[in-house]
Amino acid sequence: MLVEEKELYGKDMLTLLEWDKEEIIHLIKLALAMKTNPSHYRHVLSGKILGMIFDKPSTRTRISFEAGMLQLGGQAIVMNGKELQIGRGEPIKDTANVMSRYIDAIMIRTFNHSEVEELAKHASIPIINGLTDLHHPCQALADLLTIYEIKDHFQGVELAYVGDGNNVCHSLLLAAALVGVNMRIATPDEYTIDQIILEQAELLAEQSGALIQLTNDPVEAVEAADFIYTDVWTSMGQEEENQLRLQTFAEDFQVNEKLAAVAKPDYGFLHCLPAHRGEEVAAAIIDGPHSLVYEQAANRLHAQKALLALTLEN
Ligand code: CP
Ligand code: NVA
Repeated sequence: MLVEEKELYGKDMLTLLEWDKEEIIHLIKLALAMKTNPSHYRHVLSGKILGMIFDKPSTRTRISFEAGMLQLGGQAIVMNGKELQIGRGEPIKDTANVMSRYIDAIMIRTFNHSEVEELAKHASIPIINGLTDLHHPCQALADLLTIYEIKDHFQGVELAYVGDGNNVCHSLLLAAALVGVNMRIATPDEYTIDQIILEQAELLAEQSGALIQLTNDPVEAVEAADFIYTDVWTSMGQEEENQLRLQTFAEDFQVNEKLAAVAKPDYGFLHCLPAHRGEEVAAAIIDGPHSLVYEQAANRLHAQKALLALTLEN
């Protein structure tokens, strides 16, 4: 079946696993078309309202979703989770049912991934995961778009991830496995990725032909890579572990000129941002000629516009 004939209206984006390869590639191609010709899509979400719940801070996610809705002719309402009744213990079920009667979709950034699943279970409108402790699928969509713009294909592209086996790494792995990007992940042994997500990625990789490799050696991961990706060593909610994490990662897990020297000569550097220069990445790399981080951040807007248009358009 052609993806155009499929019903994407109403679909959630919780982990990427709700979407198949054909649908994701369709979304990426639509994102590219929207980026190239934004005025063509000015009215596709006319009258639609996206509600956004934030239990953690955000710059890119908040502004790119809000700007995206405005650019598509819709509107967005930003809500601080603490100021909603949910912050005082109102059940997620009731919140989901009520909000479904006011607005057309919910984007939520929170801690426990199970809360997003619970919201999706009870809402009759699309739920978009704007980051949980386990997943960051919208970031991975922008990352795929960034890779596709440069390579014009996915199959066999070599992607190295160095650092913490966190939410960004999980979603990047699922995205890579879905579309056929080979991914090598280097983490300290005690900060490796979630085993269930690894199994899910391995199943996808069997279909796509993607190769997945885990190591504790950043050089092994980065060797001949097309892209080097890293993220903060301490994610939101882990602040009390910061000192221990700094010590564990500092020794070998910084993306610097020495490590990047083993990648392909024309490698691209990726980071979801915000970044800590001098920790997970040296300033010479993130501010250097191989860095794609601002274009990658720009692609949040385009990838999410495609996601919104596909799932909210009627
Ligand atoms: N990359 C990302 O999600 O950035 P924000 O935390 O600023 O939304
Ligand atoms: N891993 C980071 C990503 C921030 C966009 C965090 O969860 O804080």
